[in-house]
Amino acid sequence: MTTRDLPPSVIATLPGGHYTDERLFALEQEHIFESMWFCAVRASDLGRPGAFRTVQVGRESVLVTRARDGSVRAFLNVCRHRGARLRTEESGEVKRAFQCPYHAWTYDLDGRLVAAPNLTRMPDIDRVEYGLINVHVREWLGYVWVCLAGEPPSFEADVVGEVRTRLGDEELIGNYGVDALAVGRRIVYDVKANWKLIVENFMECYHCATIHPELTEVLPEFAGGYAAQSFVGHGARFGEDVQGFTVDGSEGVERIPGVSEDQDRRYYAITIKPQVFVNLVPDHVIIHRMFPLAVDRTVVECDWLFREDVVAEGRDLGPSVELFHRVNAQDFEACERCQPAMSSRAYARGGVLVPSEHHIGVFHDWVLGRLARASV
Ligand code: FES
Ligand SMILES: [Fe+2]
Repeated sequence: MTTRDLPPSVIATLPGGHYTDERLFALEQEHIFESMWFCAVRASDLGRPGAFRTVQVGRESVLVTRARDGSVRAFLNVCRHRGARLRTEESGEVKRAFQCPYHAWTYDLDGRLVAAPNLTRMPDIDRVEYGLINVHVREWLGYVWVCLAGEPPSFEADVVGEVRTRLGDEELIGNYGVDALAVGRRIVYDVKANWKLIVENFMECYHCATIHPELTEVLPEFAGGYAAQSFVGHGARFGEDVQGFTVDGSEGVERIPGVSEDQDRRYYAITIKPQVFVNLVPDHVIIHRMFPLAVDRTVVECDWLFREDVVAEGRDLGPSVELFHRVNAQDFEACERCQPAMSSRAYARGGVLVPSEHHIGVFHDWVLGRLARASV
């Protein structure tokens, strides 16, 4: 980082080049997204054996599917013959195998090579050895997390640990039973901004009073600019006359059964580095998964999760969904407003973080620490 003489109340951000440099982005892809646990797919999107989704993880396309025994499997989406991408669509379903469209090498749902033209004349081809390349998987909060590293880091430390650090106790997220909730609504945002701008935005609330009128109405303390995320265990309290976490403060839907009295009428936000945001409110949970596709482009898939019976009954989720959809649109517009300026000479040495944003400096140090691994 550049050394600059700064007044004591501010600290430096990353220089603008960190948001525009293709080489740095490639290093982030390798040393962050391809090295850590990555939240890829909602497990319920893989309803039956053979249902699949393809997702971009770092520089790799990953095929996530459900095997015949009901377990979730993930593979690099690359044919072992001559490298054709097996599936190009975002989601779909196969009956019992993935057949490569090029020369018809065929893999079962466990990734084993089970058929290929003239395969019997090549008895020395090992079906597992020439099967699809496995990617590590874990299921947590009802999502399939994948890791491309040969030796994955500890899921408990890296993923669950982030929640523990933020809430003070990982059990507190258990109260929301996130894995059993149903997807009431999903919105996919294509954001023309570097992924770090989106993380930084989510971590601070200095902007809340300026761009989030509906949110600060529901959570009056956010108007003060202090992010709830910087205080362990703290959840922002709903305003006195607010009935629910909705766009107009109206009552939401039925509360999630396990939510405690302490957690009622409160909002908790958690960042699970590198690409997940969790928002907990008494009657729903909002989860963002980011897919950084280019140095200046990030697709964000956002799920609104409610009790299964609430979704099944077709209850009106509109006012609940609309609140955070507006927050998302407001936030992403702000990120897109910053992205073009990252290459300006005015921002070559970066900007500054005010006291209520200082914790973003910890995130920057973390990113730099990951990049430093590239040079050792
Ligand atoms: S590249 Fe897939 S079968 Fe040839
Ligand atoms: Fe925001």
